[in-house]
Amino acid sequence: MVANKRIPFIGANWKMYLMPNQVIPYIEAIKHNIPRPSEAQVMIAASPLYLWPLLEHAKQSDVIIGAENCDYHDTGAYTGEVSPKALAEAGVTYSIAGHSERRHYFDEDDEVVNKKVHALLRNNIKPIVCCDETLVRTETHDGVHWVVSQVIAAFKDVSDKDALKMMIAYEPRWAIGTGITASAAEAEEGCALIRQTISRIYSPAIADAVRVLYGGSVTPKNVKALMEQPDIDGVLVGSASLDPNEFLNLIHY
Ligand code: PGA
Repeated sequence: MVANKRIPFIGANWKMYLMPNQVIPYIEAIKHNIPRPSEAQVMIAASPLYLWPLLEHAKQSDVIIGAENCDYHDTGAYTGEVSPKALAEAGVTYSIAGHSERRHYFDEDDEVVNKKVHALLRNNIKPIVCCDETLVRTETHDGVHWVVSQVIAAFKDVSDKDALKMMIAYEPRWAIGTGITASAAEAEEGCALIRQTISRIYSPAIADAVRVLYGGSVTPKNVKALMEQPDIDGVLVGSASLDPNEFLNLIHY
């Protein structure tokens, strides 16, 4: 039996923006002002430097602390990388994998993203896989194929049971950090396509249960229209998550 209630998910992705003195005031400002987890889940994905203090300060609250990235080995001689096993032992329960900036600036390809998915799953961390449409859509009108192939690659060798632990985010690069949001209809088109792809790989029941997110210039102003779309179960928010008050406005759209 697959439960099909898709609880809305609102994730902040701080990227490399916030400085140490901003982190504790931020978590303190939001931690008791978010919806109950049965209504919506709220995550902050932060640099590894901040995860430990965030986890400490998020205790006794419903804020989920996530990683922005990790390595696909559990331990070893990989200087500068972050171990998914260590993340799990520290209490991290979600991690982004394959964000557009990782794919673009750090050459992460579909195979690496799939390895990260497996590393996270074996360490009981739920992967949030980002599918980047790049500029392909606008330049060649072939964005559709691009998104589908990334979804298929991310789920390679992932069991039905583990697929249910994953979230997929539709994140067209032309909308990330540019202030150009996909319209609600464009975002819905991308998210619906991802759900159809999951349905084809697994089953309609699994596709109905997996949460699909949209990311790219989401703000307190446009979030409602996005969240009203049938296939958009949540959002990943960069710029508009950097100020706690703006993020709270967005959460309480
Ligand atoms: P943005 O970033 O909200 O600044 O466009 C979104 C993301 O990278 O997930």
